[in-house]
Amino acid sequence: MLSAPVATVRPTPAVVSAAIADRAPFIPALAPVVGADAQVPVAAGHRVGYANLDYAASAPALASVAAQVAGALGEYASVHRGAGHLSQVTTRRYEAARETVRGFVRGRVDDSVVFTRNTTDAINLAVHITPGDVVVLDIEHHANLLPWCAPKDGRNRARVVTARATIEDTLVAIEAELASEPASLLAVTAASNVTGEVLPISRLASIAHRHGARILVDAAQLVAHRPISIVSHGIDYLAFSGHKAYAPFGAGVLIGRSDWFDAADPYLAGGGATADVDLRGDENSAGTTWHTGAARHEAGSPNVLGAVSIAEACAALAELGPEAIGLHELELGERLDAGLARIDGVRPLQIFTDSTDRVGIAGFTIDGFAPRAVAEYLSSEHGIGVRDGKFCAHPLLKRLGHPEGAVRASFGAGTTSDDVDRLLNALGALSAGTTTARPELDEGYPA
Ligand SMILES: Cc1ncc(COP(=O)(O)O)c(C=O)c1O
Repeated sequence: MLSAPVATVRPTPAVVSAAIADRAPFIPALAPVVGADAQVPVAAGHRVGYANLDYAASAPALASVAAQVAGALGEYASVHRGAGHLSQVTTRRYEAARETVRGFVRGRVDDSVVFTRNTTDAINLAVHITPGDVVVLDIEHHANLLPWCAPKDGRNRARVVTARATIEDTLVAIEAELASEPASLLAVTAASNVTGEVLPISRLASIAHRHGARILVDAAQLVAHRPISIVSHGIDYLAFSGHKAYAPFGAGVLIGRSDWFDAADPYLAGGGATADVDLRGDENSAGTTWHTGAARHEAGSPNVLGAVSIAEACAALAELGPEAIGLHELELGERLDAGLARIDGVRPLQIFTDSTDRVGIAGFTIDGFAPRAVAEYLSSEHGIGVRDGKFCAHPLLKRLGHPEGAVRASFGAGTTSDDVDRLLNALGALSAGTTTARPELDEGYPA
């Protein structure tokens, strides 16, 4: 397992109150991430260590992943076509990346593992190969909502189920929708990007299968935080992005049952997707024979370094181990939740009253302050990065009663308890009106 010889982000003494710093033991990062020692400017005119609490948007690359990707860059040549030694190395590396990803998410041996640009692209590919209706929840990230709602063959195939106040009632509503009319697919998030709440994937898979549908799981917010097994959870299709799983930007994956991939037209037409092209006597490309398998949907030169980076991130996460990852996030999450509960006016976001598991995400609002004001204050006064807004989940924010948005703090392997304490102290000062930035806030940022 990787230990934590990481440059910790130490807050300035003025920022951290003794109250929080003294109460609980220091929690170090679980693994080194690149950029952990970044210094950023603050309004006081100096620089402080950056407290990155925006992992759910893009997690920093693990240092081990960055090193492997840099190594691959040094042995980099054309992929799939060249006979040269480095082309062979690059092709082997690209194809090996599929197997590493398959192993990490416990895919079936005959699943197709298709590299995409990100989760959004992976789900758009899933839309392209799915033959019939799709049942989705209204709490989804737009990536798992809007592509399904786009008309295909002249009709909208998405049947949107309103999530209920509990997970139990939501499962009942999904089952009723699937029972009312056949659907090809249930497409559902594994963990909410707004609240971090985890959905019961195995139970959702059973419900889908009971009614003859398959299940696609949007694992963008889960794959780096909880173990996931395509086989044991009964998942048919799984989508995720590298950049939320400690790989650098640029690649995602759709993995799942090959028959739909092979039955669909290529997602992109072009070189690499074809076994044979013969245009004689034909005014279009009807004489083209397309590959089956992943290559069918990966026309053009693929993003080799993206695939390598995802595979290295999967390998690094497997080495860290789900227990260590879960424990690290649990300890930080408890500290964050307990601290937020002590700050006047902080209102946590929650979709379900019966959810029992949450990944490292805390969505909240603060009475009297617009989300953007809070995020700008945290950044400019304290060097803390959080996300504010509607998190590409507008329907969910509306139903949570915050159509104007909220604030989201999110964390992971590179986060220390100092990051959490700095956030709590900064929010505490804002709420109590003791921050020196308060006059400026009154003028510029009130909700
Ligand atoms: C649950 C969920 N699904 C899909 C996406 C889209 O991911 P990407 O922007 O990498 O395509 C996100 C991004 O935040 C997400 O949180």
